[in-house]
Amino acid sequence: MSTLSPNQYTAPRGRIACVGMGMTLGSHLTPLARSHIEQADVVFAALSDPLVEAWLEQMNANVRSLQPYYGNGTDKPRMQTYREWADLMMDEVRAGRSVCAVFYGHPGIFAWTPHEVIRRAREEGYEAVMEPGISSEDCLYADVGFDPANGCQHYEASQMVFCNVPINSAAYLVLWQAGLVGDISSKRFTTGPEYRQVLVDVLAAEYPPQHEIIIYRGATLPIEQPTIRRIALRDLSKVDVRPDETVVIPPARQYTPNRVARARLKALDAAWQQELCTTNEKPQENQHA
Ligand SMILES: C[S@@+](CC[C@H](N)C(=O)[O-])C[C@H]1O[C@@H](n2cnc3c(N)ncnc32)[C@H](O)[C@@H]1O
Repeated sequence: MSTLSPNQYTAPRGRIACVGMGMTLGSHLTPLARSHIEQADVVFAALSDPLVEAWLEQMNANVRSLQPYYGNGTDKPRMQTYREWADLMMDEVRAGRSVCAVFYGHPGIFAWTPHEVIRRAREEGYEAVMEPGISSEDCLYADVGFDPANGCQHYEASQMVFCNVPINSAAYLVLWQAGLVGDISSKRFTTGPEYRQVLVDVLAAEYPPQHEIIIYRGATLPIEQPTIRRIALRDLSKVDVRPDETVVIPPARQYTPNRVARARLKALDAAWQQELCTTNEKPQENQHA
């Protein structure tokens, strides 16, 4: 006799896990992400390198590359591609399969489809999880060598030119997808120097033209080294920026002290010290009750 309740007979079996592959082939994959890949019925791959895809195929025999859905890169908006990816994944989930979608880096950082497919799957009652991966952002802190503790802003570079974004020039500013800054069509994978010049002009409101900025590319193969190019802001339009590079603008000024808040903290500290002295002066006999 079966022990399943009637609800369990009809419960959807499909599920999806969106996992990150990390950045560097062979060394960044977490055991949990690997286990999702190995146990899936079907694995969708949105990876940065055919070599990484070949490595993935060793972990699961049913890997489907998502790269062909980009088209030739000029005739199709990227959002259309990303929606198609989510549709493909949901078709498999609805068919009752255990689906794993593998993205390079972290699946939830500057990636639309993983968030969308998880939202849709949960809305339809399916189990859906995201497993973090080592992002290019993580590699950036390690390779360029800075700590975001004093403030670090992250934006898609296009956001800086499409909108009036308030910039805190006392903190780091990290600009993603700077290689295609200003692409309103969302069909291109690179834009030219004139587009980067618009970005330079926007940034010039907050930074001097000679301010040193960094163009960073983390290693994706174990034989590679990270590349860190340091140039003056005014020269950003004169150098090529690859699709897999990130632009970092270090702080250009110091924070100014908040004198009002500091005075309040000083008063609170004085009251706390006073309280401490009073407590210490009290007789000790009740302390071991
Ligand atoms: C669509 S986002 C994907 C980011 C990815 N999910 C991650 O966790 O790094 C693509 C952008 O990530 C950054 N990126 C990708 N590969 C990189 C690399 N090897 N080194 C530095 N930045 C990289 C670039 O800013 C690029 O334009």
